[in-house]
Amino acid sequence: MMHDFTYEALPVRVVFGQGKIQILPQEAERLGIKRALVLCTPQQVQWAEEVSSLLGDKCAGLFHEAAMHTPVDVTLRAVEYARSVQADGLISLGGGSTTGLGKAISLRTGLPQIAVPTTYAGSEMTGILGETENGIKTTQKKPEIQPEAVIYDVDLTMSLPAGLSGTSGLNAMAHAIEALYAQDRNPVTSLMALEAIAAFGRALPVIAKQPDDVAARSDALYGAWFCGICLGSAGMALHHKLCHVLGGAFDLPHAETHAVMLPHTTGYNMAAAADVMDKVASALNAPNAARGLWDLARSINAPRSLQELGMPEDGIDHATDLALRNPYWNPEPLTREGIHALIKAAWAGDLPLQA
Ligand SMILES: [Fe+2]
Repeated sequence: MMHDFTYEALPVRVVFGQGKIQILPQEAERLGIKRALVLCTPQQVQWAEEVSSLLGDKCAGLFHEAAMHTPVDVTLRAVEYARSVQADGLISLGGGSTTGLGKAISLRTGLPQIAVPTTYAGSEMTGILGETENGIKTTQKKPEIQPEAVIYDVDLTMSLPAGLSGTSGLNAMAHAIEALYAQDRNPVTSLMALEAIAAFGRALPVIAKQPDDVAARSDALYGAWFCGICLGSAGMALHHKLCHVLGGAFDLPHAETHAVMLPHTTGYNMAAAADVMDKVASALNAPNAARGLWDLARSINAPRSLQELGMPEDGIDHATDLALRNPYWNPEPLTREGIHALIKAAWAGDLPLQA
């Protein structure tokens, strides 16, 4: 077998386990942080206050306005606040919104970041930052955006609701699936992707029935960590482009859209990426990759169709046009008939055509 790849890893210290939030003060100390600014969303203030008290006099303040899509005006207010309290480091407690705010502040100030994720979003393992200003989203990728340290504490994920855990998990798995067939795939990321798919395959059905199962929660967070690395290291193709098109055109919810689409986009690429798709099938103990993801989504009661997410049936043609407008690389070439059939099946909630 011939091998040909480029592999690059960003430096980041990862601490993983139960109760690990307790060592936050030591982790702050390692980075020389003496005046930490704790970040969170308005919904997670109580947790953030607990984290602040763990830090004692090493906490300089709390900024609780993190919001979806990382609005630049919020970031600028946070930067001003960070300066006013002379913060010398950032603790981002929460999901993608809070991690995004930490990255955006760090990019403008150079402050070191410790991310403490509470969902399976995975943004904490990437140097990617998406920001919005005047309704326009821009995305950039730079090594200095990557948080210096990440604390994965399974305790902080226990209260993630069962439904959200499932869709957030499938959303994370999409990064692993696409990393496996990415043009810039590499052996290290591929190993992590398969490990993540297997971990989520085991964990999500358990969490759906028993949200307080610590071992399953630990497995899911472990999978989320690897999926985050996949997101940061490999390019994304059909699945992500389609989800962005659909989400933008019909204002569909993010994680749910990924959950509906993943079995279908996987089916579309199954023949063209047969070698890796066979490995996905065995990681999921399924007859094929698309079927495995479909069954997994059904077993956790994830949304099944674009129709139930609010997309109108007469939007299928429009979505197909949008999906084909800007050509991009994908294992299986994009055809009008193929993409139309894919979106139609996803809209109706049918089994993926190839499954
Ligand atoms: Fe994504």
